[in-house]
Amino acid sequence: MGRDLQSVWHPFVQRLTDPDPLPIVRGEGTYLYTEEGEKYLDAISSWWVTLHGHAHPKIAEAIGRQAKTLEQVIFTDFTHPGAVSVAEELLELLPEHFTKVFFTDNGSTAVEVALKMALQWWKNRKIERKTVVTFRGGYHGDTFGTMSMAGKNSFNTPFWSYLFEVQQIDPPFPGREEVSLNQLKEIMEKDRVAAFLFEPLIQGATGMRIYSQEGLETLLGVLRADGAFLIADEVMTGFGRTGPLFVSSHLKVTPDILALSKGITGGFLPLGATVTTERIYDAFLSSRREEALLHGHSYTANPLACAATLASLSLLREKSCQQKREWIGKAHKAFCKKLEGTSRLKRIESLGTILVAEFAGDGGYFSTLRKSLISHFMKHKIIVRPLGNVLYFMPPYCIEEEDLAHLYQTLESFL
Ligand SMILES: Cc1ncc(COP(=O)(O)O)c(C=O)c1O
Repeated sequence: MGRDLQSVWHPFVQRLTDPDPLPIVRGEGTYLYTEEGEKYLDAISSWWVTLHGHAHPKIAEAIGRQAKTLEQVIFTDFTHPGAVSVAEELLELLPEHFTKVFFTDNGSTAVEVALKMALQWWKNRKIERKTVVTFRGGYHGDTFGTMSMAGKNSFNTPFWSYLFEVQQIDPPFPGREEVSLNQLKEIMEKDRVAAFLFEPLIQGATGMRIYSQEGLETLLGVLRADGAFLIADEVMTGFGRTGPLFVSSHLKVTPDILALSKGITGGFLPLGATVTTERIYDAFLSSRREEALLHGHSYTANPLACAATLASLSLLREKSCQQKREWIGKAHKAFCKKLEGTSRLKRIESLGTILVAEFAGDGGYFSTLRKSLISHFMKHKIIVRPLGNVLYFMPPYCIEEEDLAHLYQTLESFL
């Protein structure tokens, strides 16, 4: 621990007031283990990435095999079988009009690329459209482009004067759909929208805020009719978190661009993928190099990450995995029903494998309730990471019945 504190700077941590990091040396299934052999239930899939459990042997073996064959190759003028297979398999799982996959290596850059694709499309086609619309209270990553997309908020205060401009509307929360639609129409009366970026159905990092699918579809329909590009940020929702593999496959108005990451490799290695259509891709074909998408990262489509993805996708496709996700979804719903009306809770709801409990009172990301929630759950050997006064569970799909019950009981004992 001393060595860590001496030399490591951790993300999203206020060192003066937050507890020291817990050293973890091993993972297996839903559990993480300390050096002393104490085990902790990972209720948040280690920042929403772990799908099938820690150190899953099938994924570990696939990475091992790949490491002995080809560990890395520059991905501009070269390709490798793993990347091609990942692209083919993703396209097979997604609606037909998606035909091209652009790789990066995390969620923020998958979104950055999505934005660049949309904005450069208008430039390449020599049409003047610049306005980007996003939902207020969203989160799309920590690079400057993605911070800008979230709008000025308390995550990015020091950088407000450096962020570029976006127009924002409220997400269509149930009963507020009309408000969002009117806000959008007001923007569209003044400006032609180039692109609309959204987290489908649930705003994750800012408080697991679930909004109306119908309301979203109405907004998407209006934007589509005016030719704006629709970008779904499925970095969190992708790969089964909300039940189906992708929210976008089930929307009445299908997006033009999808940003994927997090669960893509089953939680083993960093990879990002931005998936798009032939119509977008075509606008980048030109005799002028400047009209290409001049964006790339050193570890783009890393072969080890691709091998992990292929192994994870094969597990994800198994009937038993789908059944497990459905079972978690049903258990969450039943638990929500049980706690409905609890006075300390402002809301308790679920979406697929995600369960959300928002506490009444002292709200927001900086709520002090966070600390007492963490300390209560750590006493019960459960890892959670509340977003202020919003506690959520997003377990790996391999979670067993008694572990899920342990999560629920620990929330009840806190209440
Ligand atoms: C919806 C969404 N988009 C983008 C990101 C950024 O992903 P990364 O942390 O891999 O950059 C996140 C991360 O939480 C996210 O939830």
